[in-house]
Amino acid sequence: MIKAYPLRDDLSPDALTEGLGNSWVSSLWPQLPTEPFPNLVMVADELDSTQDRLDEKLLASLPPEVESLLLVTEKQTAGHGREGRSWFAPEGSSLAFSLAIKVRKERPLGHWPLLVGWAKARSLSSWIPFRDLDLKWPNDLLLKGKKISGSLCSFHRLGDASWIKVGIGVNVGAMDFPPELSTQATTLFDHTEPPPARESVLCGLVDSLLEDAHSLKGDDLLRLYARASSIVHNTSISWIENGVEHRGRTNGMDESGALLCEEKGTLRPLHVSEVRQLRPEEL
Ligand code: BTN
Repeated sequence: MIKAYPLRDDLSPDALTEGLGNSWVSSLWPQLPTEPFPNLVMVADELDSTQDRLDEKLLASLPPEVESLLLVTEKQTAGHGREGRSWFAPEGSSLAFSLAIKVRKERPLGHWPLLVGWAKARSLSSWIPFRDLDLKWPNDLLLKGKKISGSLCSFHRLGDASWIKVGIGVNVGAMDFPPELSTQATTLFDHTEPPPARESVLCGLVDSLLEDAHSLKGDDLLRLYARASSIVHNTSISWIENGVEHRGRTNGMDESGALLCEEKGTLRPLHVSEVRQLRPEEL
């Protein structure tokens, strides 16, 4: 169990969990004390994927006064990442949560993953020197070149409301990574003394995400992001488009948040969700 918050009487947990099946929801704690904390927090001891459970049916069932919903679990058994990959999230040391935010400030869709990446970097800089963090476009967070956090981001139009759903995994505690991840992934535990509690990391991230979602101007976001991401500048990358591998060199981002890349002498925006930095031996 991660954290409990006082229950507010005027939102009925029964109404909110109706149709979901209750086995994975151990508690509901509506209305955290102050803005910009989420209106509603759901904590599960165990579930398959916070991103899958916080679905449109759940969002559509919320009373209109709920403007943000956090779902966090102690044990995520079938977490997934981009491109259908699974997400390694050992119980007790990984932080796994999804946060749905009702959109107050409309943005180009391509800005949302960047906002998530930036909010993560800003928040984790409470524990890690900013110079050791790097944003791998669009929203992976690297610590000394290894991945410390991955995110999923999706947009949902439900009636009159628009929601952004953000799913975040952060490696916080001691972790024994499997061989295929050990050269690419790291955890806060290995870079902090003492390592932060997952509750603190969670609260910091949620705070930054809500604050930036509601307040950060688009041009400021692009400027801040570009300063925090080395891959955006003059980096050789590859990406897959329609099943074909392409290669090129990055040269900033356009106004929509797309990565600009020079390929065979032409600069163009990339509309992909994933790029890979080429290793020196691949150049
Ligand atoms: C990636 O790097 O490919 C994205 C990883 C996202 C993992 C998080 S953990 C919480 C949420 N639930 C999921 O199933 N995935 C996201």
